[in-house]
Amino acid sequence: MKNKLIHGLIAASMLVACNAPQESVDPIEKQVNELLSKMTLEEKIGQLNQISAFDENAMAAMAKEGKIGSILNTADPALINRLQKVAVEESRLGIPILFSRDVIHGFKTIFPIPLGQAASFDPELVKECAAVAAEECSAYGIKWTFSPMVDVAHDPRWGRIAEGYGEDVLMNSIMGAVTVEGYQSKGVAACMKHFIGYGAAEGGRDYNSTNIPENQMRNTYLPSFHAGIKANAWTLMTSFNDNDGVPSSGNKHILTDILRNEWKWDGMVVTDWCSTSEMITHGFAADKKDAAMKSLNAGVDMDMVSNSFLENAEELIKSGAVKQSVIDNAVRNILRCKFRTGIFENPYCDESAVSSACYKPEYLDLARKSVSGSAVLLKNDKNILPLSAKKIFVTGPMANAPYDQLGTWVFDGEKEHSITPLTALQEVYGSNVSYKPGLTYSRDKNEAGIREAVAAAKSADVILCFVGEEAILSGEAHALADIRLQGKQTELIEALAATGKPVVTVFMAGRQLCIGKELEASTAVLYCFSPGTMAGPGIVDVLSGKVVPSGKSPVTFPKVTGQVPLYYCHNNTGRPVIGNEVLIDNIPLEAGQTSLGCTSFYLDAGWEPLLPFGFGLSYTTFEYSDLQIHNYGATVSSNDTIHVTCVIKNTGNFDATEVAQLYVRDLVGSITRPVAELKGFRKLAIKKGNSAEVTFDIPVSNLGFWTKEQGYHVEPGDFKLWVGTNSSCTQGEGLSFTVK
Ligand code: NOJ
Repeated sequence: MKNKLIHGLIAASMLVACNAPQESVDPIEKQVNELLSKMTLEEKIGQLNQISAFDENAMAAMAKEGKIGSILNTADPALINRLQKVAVEESRLGIPILFSRDVIHGFKTIFPIPLGQAASFDPELVKECAAVAAEECSAYGIKWTFSPMVDVAHDPRWGRIAEGYGEDVLMNSIMGAVTVEGYQSKGVAACMKHFIGYGAAEGGRDYNSTNIPENQMRNTYLPSFHAGIKANAWTLMTSFNDNDGVPSSGNKHILTDILRNEWKWDGMVVTDWCSTSEMITHGFAADKKDAAMKSLNAGVDMDMVSNSFLENAEELIKSGAVKQSVIDNAVRNILRCKFRTGIFENPYCDESAVSSACYKPEYLDLARKSVSGSAVLLKNDKNILPLSAKKIFVTGPMANAPYDQLGTWVFDGEKEHSITPLTALQEVYGSNVSYKPGLTYSRDKNEAGIREAVAAAKSADVILCFVGEEAILSGEAHALADIRLQGKQTELIEALAATGKPVVTVFMAGRQLCIGKELEASTAVLYCFSPGTMAGPGIVDVLSGKVVPSGKSPVTFPKVTGQVPLYYCHNNTGRPVIGNEVLIDNIPLEAGQTSLGCTSFYLDAGWEPLLPFGFGLSYTTFEYSDLQIHNYGATVSSNDTIHVTCVIKNTGNFDATEVAQLYVRDLVGSITRPVAELKGFRKLAIKKGNSAEVTFDIPVSNLGFWTKEQGYHVEPGDFKLWVGTNSSCTQGEGLSFTVK
C-alpha cells in the first residue's frame, strides 16, 4: 500500500515533468518535496540516521518505524532484502533504506588499491574498475559506497595514503572524478571523503589534528573535492580531524559556506563513523545533544552510527536550537540521493543472481590489466627484465600471500579467488620455477628461512623476491613511525644478492616505503601498490614482457622516514639547496658554523628524494625533444588555452607506452607558489624506433590559485613549463611564457 503511494508519487511527478517541459522543476526535486510534505518530524529524523548492522529483529523494528535512513556493514543480500521489505512495505511512507559499504577498490573482484590505480595514470582504466565494483556490489543490494577517498597525502607514515590517489592535487582530482562517474554510471552513489584535510594528520598519525591555513586548504586540499562535486558526486563524508581547532563534523565554514554556498552542491553529507559524538572527545561539544546541534547547524545531513541525531534532534527542534528548515534540508539531501540511486523504483536485489554477478572473466581481465598497468619499474640493470633466464627461484613473504596481496579495506573479496605471483609463475614457467618462502609473512624475523632460501637460490639463474607489507600494515589506523621494510625482509634481499645471482625484487605494499638498501642490492625492482585479486597474472605479465611496464609513481619516495612530508610540489623557500652543501660524513672537524652553506637540507639525508614523483621506467627508453608552445608566441592571456607539443622518441627495443607529464611553475605570485605543479599527463603507445608528438591543451585559467584577497584567480606574470618523463624534468630549462 505504502509502496503504491511512492510509486504513485513517482508516476505523478514524471507526468508533470513530461507535460511541462518548459518548467524548471526537476522531477526528482518534485518527488523529494512531495514526500517531505508527508513526513512527520519523527520520520524525518529517522532518515538522518545511519546504523551499523546489528540484531535483525531490532533493525526490522526500527525500519518499520521509519528510524533508519541507511545501514552499513552488511553485504548479505537476503538480509538486505528482508529489511528493505519492512522499510518499503511496512513503514508508513515506504521509504527504502540506502544500504552502504566500504567498497574501496573492488567488491569481490579486488583491484589495486587506489594508490596503485593512480600509478596507472590512466583515468579510463580507473573509471572501468569503479564501474565493475559498482556492478558487483549493487547486485548484492549495496547502493552507496564510501569511496573515492581524495585526500591529498604528503606523508606515507599515514596508513590511509593507500586509499587515495597520492600526493598530487590534479591526480586526486582526475581519478576521484572518474571514480565517481564509474560508480554512479551503475546507480551506486559515490562518497567523496574525508572532508577535509584528513590526509595532513600531524606526524602521519591517524586521526591526528591538522593545521591547514586557508590558502593551502583552498589550493591543495579542496580542489579534489570540488572536482568530484563537478563530476556530480551524490554524497560526501566529513573527516575525523579537527582543523585549526574545529572538528570537521561541526565545521560550518566548510560544510555550508564552501560546500553549499560557494559550490552550490545539493548532495548528501554523512559524518564519518561517530564523528559527531567524537566531538565530545575532541573537547568541542559538551554532550551528544550539543554535538548533534553543532553538526546539524554546521551542515551535516546524516549521522553515521552515533545516534546523536536520533536521540536529540526532536528536542533541539522544540527548543529552537536547530531550525526546522535545517532538518528539512537534510532530509531533502538524503531523499534526493535515494531517488538518484533508483532504489525507490528497484528497492530489492536478485538474491539468485549474486554469485554470477561477481568475478566474471571480463572483471578478472580488467583487474589483471590494472595490475600490469600500475606496476612501477624502479630499476632494471643489465636489462634483466623481461625475464629470459631459465631457472627461476621464487622467494619472499609476498610471493604466495593470497590474503595480503588484496591490500587494505577488503571486506568482501575472498582470498580463495586470489592468484598469487607464485601460482602465475608456475603456470607460465612450469617446472623451471622453484620456491622457498624465505620468510613466512612480512614481519617475520626468523632467519632460518632466509638460510634455506639462500641455499636453494644458488642453483637458479635468477631470483624473484616478493616483499612488502601485509594488508594489515596500511589503511585506517595503521600508521607507521618508520617506513622501512618490516621483519627481516631487507636481510633476505641482501643475503640473496650476496649469492651473486641477479635478484629481481617485487614490492607489494600499501604505501611507498624507504627502499634505498633494497634498490641498491637488487638488480631490478618492480613496485606494486597492493595489487588485489589478480596480482599474480598482472605482475607476471610485466616480468615476462607480455606487458611492458608503464606505471609511474603517484608519490615521492623518501630516502629516510625523517624526510617526510616530502613531495614534489613544495614551495621553494628563501634558501633552497644550491648544490654545494656538505653531507654529514664530509664535515671537517670543528667546521665553522656557516661553512656548510645555509640552505634547506638535511645533514644526513640531503635534500633529494630517493625517487621523484612520476618516476617509472620502461623496458625501452624514451627521448623527449622539441618542446613548443604554439599559437601565442610567448605571451598569453588568462582566457587562452596554451597548446603545447613535444616529440617523444622510443629509442629502445620494445614497443611501449609512455606517460608524458606537463608541469608548470608560476615564478612570482602574491603568495609563494610551488616549484612545479602537474597540469596534465598523457599516455602514448609508441612503437620501437618511432616518434610521436604529444599535445597538451592547457587552459590558462587552470594556472591560477586562491588567495583570501582575490579568491581563485590567475596572476599576470612569468611562468615556466616542462614536459618530461617524471617530475625531476623540472630541474631543466623548460619553456618560459608570460600571462598578461
Ligand atoms: C571510518 C573511515 O574513516 C571511513 O573512511 C569509512 O568509510 C567509515 N569508517 C565506514 O566504515
